[in-house]
Amino acid sequence: MTKAIRIHEHGGPEVLQWEDMDIGAPGDGEVRIRHTAVGLNFIDCYQRSGLYPMDLPLTLGTEAAGVIEAVGLGVEGFAVGQRVAYAGGQMGSYAEERIMNAGVLVPMPDGIEDQTAAAMMLKGMTAHMLLVKCYPVSAGDTILVHAAAGGVGTILCQWAKHLGATVIGTVGSDAKAEIAKAHGCDHAINYSTENFVERVREITGDAGVPVVYDSVGKDTFEGSLDCTSKFGYVISFGNASGPAPAVEPLTLMAKGSLFLGRPTLIHYTADHALRLEAARALFEAVEGGAVKIEVGQTFPLAETAKAHAALEGRATTGSTVLLP
Ligand SMILES: NC(=O)c1ccc[n+]([C@@H]2O[C@H](COP(=O)([O-])OP(=O)(O)OC[C@H]3O[C@@H](n4cnc5c(N)ncnc54)[C@H](OP(=O)(O)O)[C@@H]3O)[C@@H](O)[C@H]2O)c1
Repeated sequence: MTKAIRIHEHGGPEVLQWEDMDIGAPGDGEVRIRHTAVGLNFIDCYQRSGLYPMDLPLTLGTEAAGVIEAVGLGVEGFAVGQRVAYAGGQMGSYAEERIMNAGVLVPMPDGIEDQTAAAMMLKGMTAHMLLVKCYPVSAGDTILVHAAAGGVGTILCQWAKHLGATVIGTVGSDAKAEIAKAHGCDHAINYSTENFVERVREITGDAGVPVVYDSVGKDTFEGSLDCTSKFGYVISFGNASGPAPAVEPLTLMAKGSLFLGRPTLIHYTADHALRLEAARALFEAVEGGAVKIEVGQTFPLAETAKAHAALEGRATTGSTVLLP
């Protein structure tokens, strides 16, 4: 028996139940992992609430680090006792132990601790997708990152800075502005008290930015279109305040021949070679010191409901790790 956080219906954090689960032994191509640290991600809230409808009942969670406890037939390249981490691929990380397909695992380098791994895999590979695949940021670009003091935000801003960009970040409080500045932001805008479109125009001498990375969605999306320079890219990649509204193609023309993207990491890491490419780039950025992973808070896995309430209540900074 193991313990896991499961849902039987969609709803608020109160639907998260701490339950016994019988996971059995690994089948062909599978391993059993004992988790040492589990990553909390905003997508877990969308899947819990039903914004992203799921088949129920379900063990939530898409990211963790741990140790292999048993190996099924036909598994190559992984052994009992090995440290591994994963993000995406197969839900069910909100558990003390689990069975999973070995194909989505990434061996962990010795230099990266388990809590750091659980804090960075999904968020860091997302940063790689955004900075390298969606719009290749290069030295000299001035870019805009919303929710810059958050999990993805703190990684994205540092990595962009390392690539030579000037980073403008938005945040919900003055305390978060300090965190954003300590993690790669050259200019932190408190969008609770300041008009971020006006501030971006001011900082860029009215030119706007060639790319906006918008994970906030509903509350920021239209402003993001107004911050973007001619031929620029608006990359909408999250719904923290609710889904971004629909946009007419003609609006993109009128705002300066803009490009709109709505990527998901699921597609960008669907293939193992792509997943390894992103993971290796991330390990290099972290081990080389370009990106520091900020674990802002931890919660016992059994108290995941509190962690969800904190994340949705804008009360977290950096990444959040759940401890089995
Ligand atoms: N497309 C993909 O493949 C992909 C992959 C990973 C993550 N994401 C997205 O990236 C975003 C960041 O994920 P994360 O896990 O690192 O979360 P996070 O950024 O640590 O937390 C979300 C932040 O959004 C801001 N926010 C603004 N309005 C909000 C509202 N009404 N309710 C809640 N938060 C609000 C808050 O920061 P302030 O208080 O500073 O505003 C909050 O801290 C999420 O939107 C997530 O869905 C997308």
